[in-house]
Amino acid sequence: MPKTISGFSKFNKLEKINWLVSSFFYNDENVKDILKQYWNKNEVLQDLHDDFIENTISNFYLPFAVAPNFVINGKEYTIPMTIEESSVVAAASLVAKFWSTRGGFKAEVISTTKIGQIHFMYEGDEVELKNYFASKKEDLFRVTTAITKNMRKRGGGILNIELRNKTAELDNYYQLHVTFDTVDSMGANFINSCLEAIAGEFKKEDIQIVMCILSNYVPECLVHAEVSCNVNDLYAENSEILAQKFIQAIQIANAEPHRAVTHNKGIMNGIDAVVIATGNDFRAIEAGAHAYASRSGKYKSLTNATIENGIFKFWIEIPLALGTVGGLTSLHPLSKLSLKLLGNPSAKELMEIIAVAGLAQNFAALRALTTTGIQKGHMKMHLTNIIKQLGASEEEKSFLINYFENKTVTHNAVVEAYNKLVQDK
Ligand code: MEV
Repeated sequence: MPKTISGFSKFNKLEKINWLVSSFFYNDENVKDILKQYWNKNEVLQDLHDDFIENTISNFYLPFAVAPNFVINGKEYTIPMTIEESSVVAAASLVAKFWSTRGGFKAEVISTTKIGQIHFMYEGDEVELKNYFASKKEDLFRVTTAITKNMRKRGGGILNIELRNKTAELDNYYQLHVTFDTVDSMGANFINSCLEAIAGEFKKEDIQIVMCILSNYVPECLVHAEVSCNVNDLYAENSEILAQKFIQAIQIANAEPHRAVTHNKGIMNGIDAVVIATGNDFRAIEAGAHAYASRSGKYKSLTNATIENGIFKFWIEIPLALGTVGGLTSLHPLSKLSLKLLGNPSAKELMEIIAVAGLAQNFAALRALTTTGIQKGHMKMHLTNIIKQLGASEEEKSFLINYFENKTVTHNAVVEAYNKLVQDK
């Protein structure tokens, strides 16, 4: 069988699988079984998932978990998380409980402005372009009125259209920089539709439109979340010294991009997990967050901490363009359930919840890294995963967990200990 094909998308699901298995897996029937075992027996549900993307042949499961005991602005939440990394939900739950007895998390949305741009080339006189833009501005709004009607009813719409001269960055490059309030929707389709309508109206023989697209860099769609407590309430002992180490860990991330990337990756562990569970676009969130971390020209930490007058304060500021209506949020049954679990929040409230999930994750990581080290907790989860893979009984499991209490966990060591345990029986 050839390994390239045309008309593949026209095949039905079984034909697609047959082609795949004969072309890449030597007709191994096991491969078909693996793919089919993840099909949902509920055909309506399976059809729904099939239609999310092109060429669906199976489903790829990720664990869907919850982290209880979050208190945010005085309100209790159990936060849904979708992630494969073993320690993330455990860390979130631990940290949520910890801060719930210290006043909880406080969070506030700073701004919710989203951005779209029409990029174009223009070689003519700038004043003439400015005059043309001024003469057209009203029309540029007018051509979007049908598209923006519902959004305006909900309190959103186009905030402004600005002509920007970008010729210092690239010869002849200008743009229409358009700002939006998309209220509770992420707004990608809405923004792109508006931009294309505006570009269609911004026609002139010497204007060459290159492209219209929203920006995933949204430094004005920003949320702040924080925790604070008396330094002495932070650790069981040596609180001041350990709190200083915690702050140094952030200073190191600010000084050293290699560390900052890992530091922020830990934050994104918490953020992405809730973004995915609520049906939002984690690639957009990732791209925007890392661009924001580089806004000074150097890649830095998204979190910060201080100790002032004996009070430890730890906070995050992060751009999050999220939606709680439209897109996958209204299609995927688990996303709908996640949002219901959170009390059907507005997009603003979801920004607060997700910023908190990121802050909590960073707190867990820095606390572990600057005290016991990260491997203790990780290896505990790793150990239970290996034990599970070995098919150990409950009795064998508790023996092995006890046995490895003070020993280094490696895959080999666990397998050896398990084999010995089985042999000695
Ligand atoms: C692992 O997924 C995340 C950490 O590396 C984050 C960090 O180092 O801050 C533990």
